Amino acid sequence: MARILITSALPYINGIKHLGNLVGSQLPADLYARYMRARGHEVMFICATDEHGTPAELAAAKAGKAVEAYCTEMHAVQTELAKGFALSFDHYGRSSSARNYALTQHLAARLGAAGLIEEVSEKQVYSNADGRFLPDRYIEGTCPNCGYERARGDQCENCTKQLDPTDLINPRSAISGSTDLEVRDTKHLFLRQSKLRDTLDQWIDRQQGWPVLTTSIAKKWLHDGDGLQDRGITRDLDWGVPVQFDGAPWRGMDGKVFYVWFDAPIEYIAATAEWADANGLDDAAWRRWWRTDEGADDVRYVQFMGKDNVPFHTLSFPATLIGSGEPWKLVDYIKSFNYLNYDGGQFSTSQGRGVFMDQALGLLPADYWRWWLLSHAPENNDSEFTWENFQASVNKDLADVLGNLVSRVTKFCRAKFGEVVPEGGSYGVREDQLIQALGARLRAYEQHMEAMEVRKSAAELRALWVLGNEYLQEAAPWSVYKTDPDMAAAQIRLSLNLIRFYAIVSQPFIPQATSKIMASLGCTDWTWPSELTSALDRLETGHSFEVPDVLFAKMTDDQRQEWAAQFAGERRDA
Ligand code: 2FM
Ligand code: ZN
Repeated sequence: MARILITSALPYINGIKHLGNLVGSQLPADLYARYMRARGHEVMFICATDEHGTPAELAAAKAGKAVEAYCTEMHAVQTELAKGFALSFDHYGRSSSARNYALTQHLAARLGAAGLIEEVSEKQVYSNADGRFLPDRYIEGTCPNCGYERARGDQCENCTKQLDPTDLINPRSAISGSTDLEVRDTKHLFLRQSKLRDTLDQWIDRQQGWPVLTTSIAKKWLHDGDGLQDRGITRDLDWGVPVQFDGAPWRGMDGKVFYVWFDAPIEYIAATAEWADANGLDDAAWRRWWRTDEGADDVRYVQFMGKDNVPFHTLSFPATLIGSGEPWKLVDYIKSFNYLNYDGGQFSTSQGRGVFMDQALGLLPADYWRWWLLSHAPENNDSEFTWENFQASVNKDLADVLGNLVSRVTKFCRAKFGEVVPEGGSYGVREDQLIQALGARLRAYEQHMEAMEVRKSAAELRALWVLGNEYLQEAAPWSVYKTDPDMAAAQIRLSLNLIRFYAIVSQPFIPQATSKIMASLGCTDWTWPSELTSALDRLETGHSFEVPDVLFAKMTDDQRQEWAAQFAGERRDA
């Protein structure tokens, strides 16, 4: 039994996530966590809301709420949605937790002591009316390029030109609208990542078998241009982890906070501490996952994220941990994803484009979405959600293949033998062949799941379901029953066991439907079917079951058209 630490990139707090966000980290991480638990490993699966930074402040302001209250509210909303999608986090934390404040300030202190933090003076726009420095995107004005009147200090949304706040014509504060702005000197702290360049480079070279998507991004940042740049880790914001070093102030840093990307990955660790706190455990309980001097050298640590997050996880976060000089567990494998597009364009949070998690659950149960998203995960390329494709997957894979098998077998059994595993007959050549074929496919499925090859795993799982359907079609117990009821009984006995087998191996993909199946089979033994012959004998003669309700309803053409139209525009309540 191994110990596996799994983290999913932390979703920003600023609103409900869309399906593209979901499939880029949390959902595949859940698939892997569920699989590893099913194989008997000890798993710690951690996620949290990423609550700091400008987006959180802006979203709170837009909602007319104090940022702290807004984050508390949105954390509750995201927690419910995570449950709705059956995401099996051991803990869903908050980057604004006391644990994260303390750990962020502690690591900063260590980095400072190691000479890895440097003060840099900068010029920045100050708003007299607001009494604060304004981050670039808090400054609005007229775009010098296209004349758009609501261009932001970092970029014009209309013509996409990258801007400096001083480029804007008639600049004003996006917070108060005040034009009483001036440029002032301000001081920030920089993490001297460049000093760790060789260490990071060698560390990445030592990683075996990382996806090309992951290493190529890391290498690019290490070597392109002037190489790895030092990075500002403080901001002039109110909301965030105050810039302190193990409780002690840093001269001239009053009123500043750490940059959101500095404290967010530290929350992976802090959230594990939150988990211990929530379960009444002591510090040793979480430290054995994170401190190599306290047991974590046995841990395999896997991270899941979208490709835009890779630089922070291959470089900045490891720089923080290595630079601290303390024995923190570093990531062993980074599984990164490309983007999922929506019907000919991009999913977009700011534009409310695409299907969002709450909306998806309002249309269909989580498993329908889980199945489509995982079987179409944007692994090697970007992939695209279309309603046609979604309908085809739901109807063909879930309803016609898996759902149909479960329904035919259980209903036929009820009609001819009652709701019990029937007695009589024995397996013949066809049954032996099926068991062999299942064995080969199961091994392939296991290998793909181990390797986090999400699409290949889904394809192999579907192939396992197909084998059962083909068997049933060829064996045709409904005809055999007429001449040889004993043989039909044996076929149905095997098929009922096959349904249990499918429930167990499909559980990481479709946990809700498989729970239903197991409940209707009256079975609580989820042991992984490594030993296939005995696994397919687990439901013994005379064991009673109930025919389940329809597992997967087909999606109609009317629904498809209605939903495609409903989600064609922007989300209005976003
Ligand atoms: O890109 C994002 O959605 C970030 N909130 C991910 C943070 S991951 C981690 F480092 F916290
Ligand atoms: Zn413009």
